[in-house]
Amino acid sequence: STSETFTSIARVYRGTFVHSTQNAAVEILEDTILGVDTEGRIAFISTAAELGTLSKTWGFRISDVRHLGPRFFMPGLVDTHIHASQYSYSGTALDMPLLQWLNTYTFPTEVNYKDLDFAHDVYTKVVKRTLRNGTTAACYFATIYTDSSLLLGEIADKYGQRALVGKVCMDRNQAVPVYQESVDHSCKETKRFIGELLKRKYARVRPIVTPRFALSCSASLLGHLGEIAKNNDLHIQSHISETKDEVDLVKQLFPDSESYADVYHKHNLLTNKTVMAHACHLTDSELKLFKDTGTSIAHCPNSNISLCSGMLDVQRVLKHSVKLGLGTDVAGGYSPSMLDAIRRTLDTSKILSIQDPKHKALTFEEVFRLATLGGSEALSLHKQTGNFEVGKDFDALLINPVVSDSPFDVFPSEGPKVILEKFLNLGDDRNIEEVYVAGKKVIPFQQSE
Ligand code: GUN
Ligand code: FE
Repeated sequence: STSETFTSIARVYRGTFVHSTQNAAVEILEDTILGVDTEGRIAFISTAAELGTLSKTWGFRISDVRHLGPRFFMPGLVDTHIHASQYSYSGTALDMPLLQWLNTYTFPTEVNYKDLDFAHDVYTKVVKRTLRNGTTAACYFATIYTDSSLLLGEIADKYGQRALVGKVCMDRNQAVPVYQESVDHSCKETKRFIGELLKRKYARVRPIVTPRFALSCSASLLGHLGEIAKNNDLHIQSHISETKDEVDLVKQLFPDSESYADVYHKHNLLTNKTVMAHACHLTDSELKLFKDTGTSIAHCPNSNISLCSGMLDVQRVLKHSVKLGLGTDVAGGYSPSMLDAIRRTLDTSKILSIQDPKHKALTFEEVFRLATLGGSEALSLHKQTGNFEVGKDFDALLINPVVSDSPFDVFPSEGPKVILEKFLNLGDDRNIEEVYVAGKKVIPFQQSE
C-alpha cells in the first residue's frame, strides 16, 4: 500500500507469535516475521517465505532481523481492574467480607495517599511490579486525592505502561468519615484531575471517571459524574454486584431503581466505555442492559474467592454477548500478576462445573483471549492493543520457556501450544524476558530506574 513508503521500520523479528483473533482463541504463527515501525506500530506480520519481498518493500536489511529461537512473542496482558493504592497491603488482610474489609483495611490505608511521598513509593512499586509481570495496560483506581492520582499517571508514563487512571469519587463514608468528599468538591476535583492529566499529553495514559460504587456515592454525585463523562467522552469504571450484602444495601439505598445496574444506568454511567468490576450477582435483565449499553465486565476471580464474594459465571456473561476482561483487583485479590488472574479464572470455571456438570468449563485458550484481546475490548482499547494485528501498537511479551531458572520444564516432543499452556499454568516473571509497550522496551528496566 502507499502508506508503506512513509513509514520506516524500526525492528523486525522472526520466530513464533501467539495471539488471539475474533475467530481463534489461540492462533499460533510459526516461522513468522513481524515488523515494528518507528511509531511503535505493527507494520506487517507475514510468513517467513515473504522475507525477501518485505525487505525490499520496507527497506530493512535481512541481516538485521532478530531471530527468537526457542522464545515466542505473545500480546501484553491487560489488567482491567487494579487498585494501585491497595498494593501496599496486597497479600494480607483477607479475613473479612467485603464491606467490613473496606471499613477496616481499605479506607484507612487510602487516607495515606494525601502524602505524596508515600504515594510515590507505592505507585512506583506497583507500576514496576505489574510491568515486570507482563501487564502492558492497566485500569487503575487511585484514591480520592487528585494530586497523588496525577502522580500515578506520571509514574505509569515514566515507566511506559499504558494506563487508565481514576481519581476515586465518594461522598458517603460512615466508617471512616475523613475519607469522603462533598459532591461539589468531588466534581471540581474530578474536572481538575481530567484537565490536568490531559494537559500533560502523556502518550498512553488517560483519565477514567471513577465513582467508587453505589454504596459510596449519592444519586447527586453519580448524576454529576455521568454528565462529566458524557461531556468529555471519557471512560468510566466502578464496582457492581460483588457481594449479596452489597446488592441488598443498594436496594435499600436506591429504592426507586429497578436493579443495581439501573442505579448506574439512570445516571448515564453505563456506556460502551464503561468497565464494571466483579458483577458476580447480576440478573439476566442486568446482563442484557450491559449488552445494550456496551458496558463491559472486569472479572476479578482472586478477589472474588479471597473475600468470599461470589463466583462469576463467565460462560453466562459471554452467552449474553457482554464484553469481559480479567482483573487482579489488588488488594482484594492478593496477586498483582495477570498470570494469577488467568489461573483463578480457570479454577472458578472448573469449580462451577464441579457444582453443575452441565456447566462447560472455560479452556486455557479462551482464558488467554480474555487476558489479552478480551481485556483490550473491555477497556475500549482494542484499536490500539490486544493482539498482533497490523496497525495496532506492538504491546508484547517475549517469553522464554527455557530460561535457566525456568519454573517449568519443556520436553522435546512439545509444540508451541503445549508450551503456551505450561507458561500460563506454571510460568512467572522469570520467563518474561522483555516487555514492549508501543514498540518501546519497558522491561528490563533502564539502568537509572
Ligand atoms: N467496592 C468498593 N470499593 C472496593 C474496593 O476497593 N475493592 C473491592 N474489591 N470492592 C470494592
Ligand atoms: Fe476493586
